Amino acid sequence: MINCTFVFGTRPEAIKLAPLIIKLREAKVVNVEVCVTGQHREMLTQVLDVFEITPDVDLKLMSHNQSLPDFLGKSISALHNYLKDSNADYVIVQGDTSTVLSASIAAFYNKRKVLHVEAGLRTTNIYSPFPEEMNRRLTSQLTYHHFVPTGISKQNLLKEGYAEETIMITGNTAIDSLLFVKNKLNEGVLHPASDVYDIVRESQAQYNGYILITGHRRENFGEGFLNICEAIELSARKHPDYLYIYPVHLNPNVHSIVSEKLGGISNIRLMKPQSYVDFIYLMQHAHVILTDSGGVQEEAPSLQKPILVMRESTERPEGITAGCSKLVGVNVQQIVSEIGRLLSDADYYGSFAVAKNPYGDGNASGRILNFIEQLT
Ligand code: UD1
Ligand code: UDP
Repeated sequence: MINCTFVFGTRPEAIKLAPLIIKLREAKVVNVEVCVTGQHREMLTQVLDVFEITPDVDLKLMSHNQSLPDFLGKSISALHNYLKDSNADYVIVQGDTSTVLSASIAAFYNKRKVLHVEAGLRTTNIYSPFPEEMNRRLTSQLTYHHFVPTGISKQNLLKEGYAEETIMITGNTAIDSLLFVKNKLNEGVLHPASDVYDIVRESQAQYNGYILITGHRRENFGEGFLNICEAIELSARKHPDYLYIYPVHLNPNVHSIVSEKLGGISNIRLMKPQSYVDFIYLMQHAHVILTDSGGVQEEAPSLQKPILVMRESTERPEGITAGCSKLVGVNVQQIVSEIGRLLSDADYYGSFAVAKNPYGDGNASGRILNFIEQLT
């Protein structure tokens, strides 16, 4: 049997690889090993717990407020040492993080083949998202086979000269995970934590609902985050009949400014990062979602929630074209006015709902499994 080793390190990679790990293990057609770099700690553990995945190897690399070069360097080195002694034929990575780039370089040094899940996304601006656009481009260069979520991502790779036979359109595995958890929540098999349940009930009993917020992009650090906080504060003061619920990312560059600027405002609730199950529950019941996250842009259309994207550009243009998301940048007035319009104009609000999620149908990991079976 061939040996496939998953390498990942952050919350979104874990969420998007979990359904494939589970499927490959169930199929028993290849040997599966799971190695985590531990680029994230608490936020990674939250996801592994939900999907009941225990890594075979945990490199435990996260340090407080880690810099890009420090983490990349130590991750390449640790993964190189790990792969050198491993029998991995294929290294499976997902997305655009430092873990993805370091795993691809370490696989190259050890002459192992990289399978890249969620390949081909591009903004064409190397500084946005930063450093993810470049991480993803460099990973493409090191990849043996590209699993792209959509036709647009396939076109991006073809334009860069990658051979068509190395690219497969699969849909995004994010939707596989989302539907798995959403169905279990709806069936009552999974339940939200009591504090999350309570805040949703409070928003229904004492407010007209809530705006759910996430934000963590490096290109927004500094002025961008000051603007984001100012916009949230202005909007919350303008609409005291809505709650603003913000699970704050643990990156200290985000956490410190958000706590300082938004703590203590009565209709703004700052929370710890939520478990994946709780976050899906919060998305399901939100009125509007305000985010700079990649994964949240992909998930919101399956829940028919309007999504305002606090970025100047996105490597996920499919939602914008389909009309289920809108780029609002980090401009204070634009963010405030778009939230206001969604809260006051029912027709505008309704125009965001789409019948079909442009990012996937929930069967992406099955398609990737079919491909991997043919490698054996
Ligand atoms: C990383 C990814 C980004 C991804 C995001 C998902 C890179 C360059 N960035 O950004 O692409 O969108 O994860 O959330 O790969 N921290 C903790 N506990 C945790 C996680 C983070 O304390 O569980 C703190 C640590 O101080 C850590 C810092 O956050 O040093 C930054 O983590 P890092 O993974 O470098 O960057 P993110 O901003 O999380
Ligand atoms: N998410 C979560 N808990 C939270 C916020 C987000 O589980 O408190 C999930 C969300 O559903 C999505 C993923 O985390 O699947 C997105 O991760 P993040 O925004 O950190 O990274 P990105 O997708 O921007 O790389």
